[in-house]
Amino acid sequence: MADKIPPPTDQLAAVPLDNAGASSSTVHKPWSPSRTRIRSILGRPDGGAGLAGQKVQISGWVKKGREQGKGKFAFLEVNDGSCAANLQVKVDASVSDLSKLVTTGTSLTIDGCLKIPPQGKATKQKIELSAEKVIDVGTVDQHGKTPYPIPKTKLTLEYLRDHTNFRARTTTMAAVTRIRHKICLAAHVFCDKHDICYIHTPIITTSDCEGAGEMFQVTTLINQSEKLEKDLVKNIELTEAEETLAKVEDRSKLKPGLLLPRKDGKIDYSQDFFARQAYLTVSGQLHAETYACSMGDVYTFGPTFRAEKSHTSRHLAEFWMVEVELAFAGVEEAMNCAEALVKDICKYLLEKCLDDMELMKNVDEACIDRLQMVALTSFERVTYTKAITLLEEAVAKGKKFENPVELGLDLASDHERYLTEVLYKKPVIVYNYPKKIKAFYMRLNDDGETVAAFDVLVPKVGELIGGSQREERMDVLMERMEEKRLPIKEYEWYIDLRRHGTVKHSGFGLGLERMLLFATGMDNIRDVIPFPRYPGRADL
Ligand code: 4AD
Ligand code: MG
Repeated sequence: MADKIPPPTDQLAAVPLDNAGASSSTVHKPWSPSRTRIRSILGRPDGGAGLAGQKVQISGWVKKGREQGKGKFAFLEVNDGSCAANLQVKVDASVSDLSKLVTTGTSLTIDGCLKIPPQGKATKQKIELSAEKVIDVGTVDQHGKTPYPIPKTKLTLEYLRDHTNFRARTTTMAAVTRIRHKICLAAHVFCDKHDICYIHTPIITTSDCEGAGEMFQVTTLINQSEKLEKDLVKNIELTEAEETLAKVEDRSKLKPGLLLPRKDGKIDYSQDFFARQAYLTVSGQLHAETYACSMGDVYTFGPTFRAEKSHTSRHLAEFWMVEVELAFAGVEEAMNCAEALVKDICKYLLEKCLDDMELMKNVDEACIDRLQMVALTSFERVTYTKAITLLEEAVAKGKKFENPVELGLDLASDHERYLTEVLYKKPVIVYNYPKKIKAFYMRLNDDGETVAAFDVLVPKVGELIGGSQREERMDVLMERMEEKRLPIKEYEWYIDLRRHGTVKHSGFGLGLERMLLFATGMDNIRDVIPFPRYPGRADL
């Protein structure tokens, strides 16, 4: 007897709806998709063989199709994005016009019966679908303006970056996307397990969290002034006949941007949408601190934006960050939490998406070993000063780095990777950085020179996490802000947290895309986010 494909579980089904009382004549039915996901067939330990005889409806896109038996039937390899494997579908010419189905990229919805493929054939398939009815077809326009960009041939990741609207139809990009989904889930599961409450910090902000001034501005003043200019030009054309030539010439000299409202020689932001300057957030941390200082442990997980002109394979202008903020916790507790989070994510991936991870071995043979190693190994912890000594020793032995190694300077990516990949061969937490190279909110250590900051470095990536204990002493915080010449007035709300019921607290931010680079072994951060944004590029 064939196993039944289990119906989706829906605990709500047992809960009566408010309007579904005794008088209701309709029965509440839990939602279940009409189509069967290919993963639920091929993802079984028996490869789907135990489902032979079952009728299913599947939908997906043709990866490869070929007519055979002199046009009597066709074999289609169909993928629906639920897993890397394709379901083989056999369609007889009596069921449908085969020529419409076989082109790569065609979408299909098919009713059929699952069957064991004939034995003896050189096939890996444990099950195939014998089509009984083709319900829907979305053909590929082969002769139109833009050809289908994902043909059967192997495509480079660089090429695919120019086709972000279709690149998830490739095996690698789809696997990366599913792994991304699982990493997000793992972070949520971790936080929920430890009673860390999910909060949403704003995307539009008026504070520069890192104090580094690398923010994208959010304004409607430019659109407004452009509209004003257009209206003015139109007005000039309409009234040309009545005006003196001199006047028209005068007004035509207007340069773009001249109509931005100004006050005292500066742009008058009181007339902007928010009546002040606003930006896209670089980090939700400062806002998360307000909630940590009320609710205890919290985290925020959302997109963050940096307007730095970095063209490296580790930087994006828009990236996602998990930011945990722990109340009544010192820096060591934050380091412990960060280490536990990374380990839990690794374990989750090994448990929940090993098939996709297996596939990533085509990109990086070591990716699964790396996850296993990190899941099981204690992270090394070294001070910044010790890290510099170790790097200096390496230089003395002839190791060449792109950037200088010098006490007081920040670690560059190649230094970080040397520490974690070569020296320790495992994740390394570097802590106690010089205050000069770190943000204003980090807690000053007793030496007066270093701050209780830490970075988690992992093989393949370098910096994965940045964190610190936050300066909870109001006077020290204000001194640090003055040193960094920050506009104290704008941070009064943040300083107030120290004024009223201040607490020791610490936190960190894990870059989601860096975690993906680490997990998948992909080389370029632009290939682990669906729609990458970096200098010069914001397609779609
Ligand atoms: O070290 P960062 O700048 O730390 C913060 O933003 C803190 N406010 C976090 C906190 O304590 N709540 O960034 C944290 C992490 C980095 O370690 C890195 O993984 C990632 O965010 N990251 C980037 N990822 C992609 N592109 C960029 N431009 C990134 N900048 C930082
Ligand atoms: Mg950092």
